[in-house]
Amino acid sequence: GLKKKEVNVLCLGLDNSGKTTIINQLKPANRSNHLGPLSEEWKHVSQAQAQDIVPTIGFNIEKFKCSSMSFTVFDMSGQSRYRNLWEHYYKEGHAIIFVIDSGDKLRMVVAKEELDTLLNHQDIRSRKMPVLLFANKMDLRDAMSSVKVSQMLCLENIKDKPWHICASNAIKGEGLQEGLDWLHGNTV
Ligand code: GTP
Ligand code: MG
Repeated sequence: GLKKKEVNVLCLGLDNSGKTTIINQLKPANRSNHLGPLSEEWKHVSQAQAQDIVPTIGFNIEKFKCSSMSFTVFDMSGQSRYRNLWEHYYKEGHAIIFVIDSGDKLRMVVAKEELDTLLNHQDIRSRKMPVLLFANKMDLRDAMSSVKVSQMLCLENIKDKPWHICASNAIKGEGLQEGLDWLHGNTV
């Protein structure tokens, strides 16, 4: 058959935005649609597990196959004390997943600063790598829409790379497949 695309993904964004929860949902063992839909009682268990994830220390590397791509994901900690680790992996990355907590209005400016710093970095700036953004936690009652998030982050200013934003609920796994499909179509 066709060779699966080998893709190194940098998963970045502020602490508590949902990066590890998203990656966990994408791993085949946890995917509800991988052997058919989960029954209601198992959905409950899988959502309880999704809520048990602890803050990442440093980073984790995850390898799995999904949407006919072989992923190596660098799941970086978003805590400020670890954010200086991110840039060491920029050269390795073929694609970026940037996760935003849509309910965290107070830190949207911090998320924008980190995104701008990332996109202006010498190892990122000159490259045509795709940037997939998840406006995560869309289930929160005061969550901003993905349109609002993209306005606050001034995404229309990104001219040198393909980018796409999806609203997501990582605990339920909603919105993730749409993002992955876009990534698949935009990864060279
Ligand atoms: P760091 O590893 O510290 O950088 O954080 P992270 O971005 O990996 O966040 P993590 O996946 O650990 O999730 C942080 C918290 O948000 C956890 O309590 C998750 O259960 C919760 N969470 C993640 N996604 C969602 C979501 O879509 N909706 C809601 N309501 N909570 C979520
Ligand atoms: Mg994490």
